Amino acid sequence: MNRRASPDQTEGGLTQARPGAAPRSDLLDRGLTEDRAVPPPLIPLLSVEDLSVEFRTRDGVVRALENVSFTVGRGETVGVVGESGSGKSVTALAILGILHPAARITGGRAVFGGLDLLTAGEDRLREYRGRELSMIFQNPRTALNPIRPVGRQIADVLLRHANLPRARVRERAIALLAQVQIADPARAYHAYPFELSGGMCQRVMIALAMACSPALLIADEPTTGLDVTTQAAILELIEDLARQRRMAMVLITHDLALVGERCDRIVVMHAGHVVETAPTAELFAAPRHPYTARLIASTPRPGVTLADLRPIPGTVPDLRSALLPCRYRSRCEHAIPDCEEPPLPWLTVGPGHAVACRVPL
Ligand SMILES: Nc1ncnc2c1ncn2[C@@H]1O[C@H](COP(=O)(O)OP(=O)(O)OP(=O)(O)O)[C@@H](O)[C@H]1O
Ligand code: SF4
Ligand SMILES: [Mg+2]
Repeated sequence: MNRRASPDQTEGGLTQARPGAAPRSDLLDRGLTEDRAVPPPLIPLLSVEDLSVEFRTRDGVVRALENVSFTVGRGETVGVVGESGSGKSVTALAILGILHPAARITGGRAVFGGLDLLTAGEDRLREYRGRELSMIFQNPRTALNPIRPVGRQIADVLLRHANLPRARVRERAIALLAQVQIADPARAYHAYPFELSGGMCQRVMIALAMACSPALLIADEPTTGLDVTTQAAILELIEDLARQRRMAMVLITHDLALVGERCDRIVVMHAGHVVETAPTAELFAAPRHPYTARLIASTPRPGVTLADLRPIPGTVPDLRSALLPCRYRSRCEHAIPDCEEPPLPWLTVGPGHAVACRVPL
C-alpha cells in the first residue's frame, strides 16, 4: 500500500519531507507546506484518519479506500463528492461499522467522541448507532424493514435508545412522522413501506435517523430517485431538522452543485482517495487538484451553457488492478514523471485547504 507522506518532526519543530516526496524547497517556492492532515476544526466530532478498506472478491482484491482522512466539526455540514465508485458509501458504512462481510478494514481510525469506531465492539457500536450517529441511506425502500409498519420501526429505535416511558413511545413516533411532514401521521404509523411513495419512505428514513437527535447524521444520496420538487423539499427538511438539533452532517452526493449550496466544507474523493478538502467557497474559487477543477468544469451552473461544460477525461481506474500512487494519473493533463513515484504527498495549501497532488494547480 502506498502510504501518504507524513511529516517527520525535526528538533527545531520544522517538518521535512520523506524521500520520494516533492522536494521541500519546491513546496516552499509554491507557498505550500507538507502536512499529514488538514488542520482540524477546533473540536472535531469525527476524525477519520488513514482509513483503508479492501473487498475480497472472486475477481481479486478491490482496494476501495486508501488512507482516507477528514474531520467533521460539531454542528458542521461537510459534503463528500466524487464520481460513482469513488468510495463515498464505503467510507460511511465503515464509520458506522456496517460494511459488507467481504470488506476488510486494513488500516486507520475513525474517532468519534473519543471512541475509535473501527475497533469498538459490536455492542458499543449498536449503542452509538441511532443514538449518537445516524445514517440516511441511498435507497430507503431497501433500508426499511418491508414487513414491519413504519411507525413501529421508529418506535423500536425509541425503545432501544430514548429514555422514554413505553406508553409515550407511540405518541413520540407519531410526532416524529408529523415533523417530517407526513400527512395523517397516526394513520401512516400503521403503514408498511410498500404502501408509501418513494418520497414518503425517504421521510420515514429521516424520522428514523432523527428519532434520538444524534450528534452526527450521515446522509448518503438522500434524494436519489426522487423528482426534483421532492428532492428540494427533502433536503430542506433534513437541513432544518439538523439545524434545530445542532447536528453535524455529512452529505454524500455526486452532485457538486448541491454541496456547493448546502455545505460548509467539501471533501472530494476519487477512486478511493480523498484528493482535496477545503471550505466550500475556496474550493469553488480556487480548486488545487486537477480532478476537482475538472469536476467543477463539468458541473452545470448559472451562466454556463451545456456546450461549455467539459467532461472529465477517461474513467475511474479498476480498483482491482495495480494502482499508481496517484489514482488520477491516467486521466490527468498536468502529470509529470514524478507523479508515478510514491508516496503521494498531502499538502496544506491554505487554512483548512489540503490537496493530494505532487504539482497542485
Ligand atoms: N460488496 C462489495 N464488493 C466488492 N466491491 C465493492 C463492494 N461494495 C463496494 N465495492 C467497491 O468499492 C468501491 C467504492 O464503492 P462505493 O459504493 O463506496 O462508491 P460510491 O462513491 O458510493 O459510488 P456511488 O456514487 O455510485 O454511490 C467501488 O469500486 C465498488 O465497486
Ligand atoms: S499527482 Fe500528478 S497525476 Fe496526480 S493529480 Fe497531481 S499532477 Fe495529476
Ligand atoms: Mg454510494
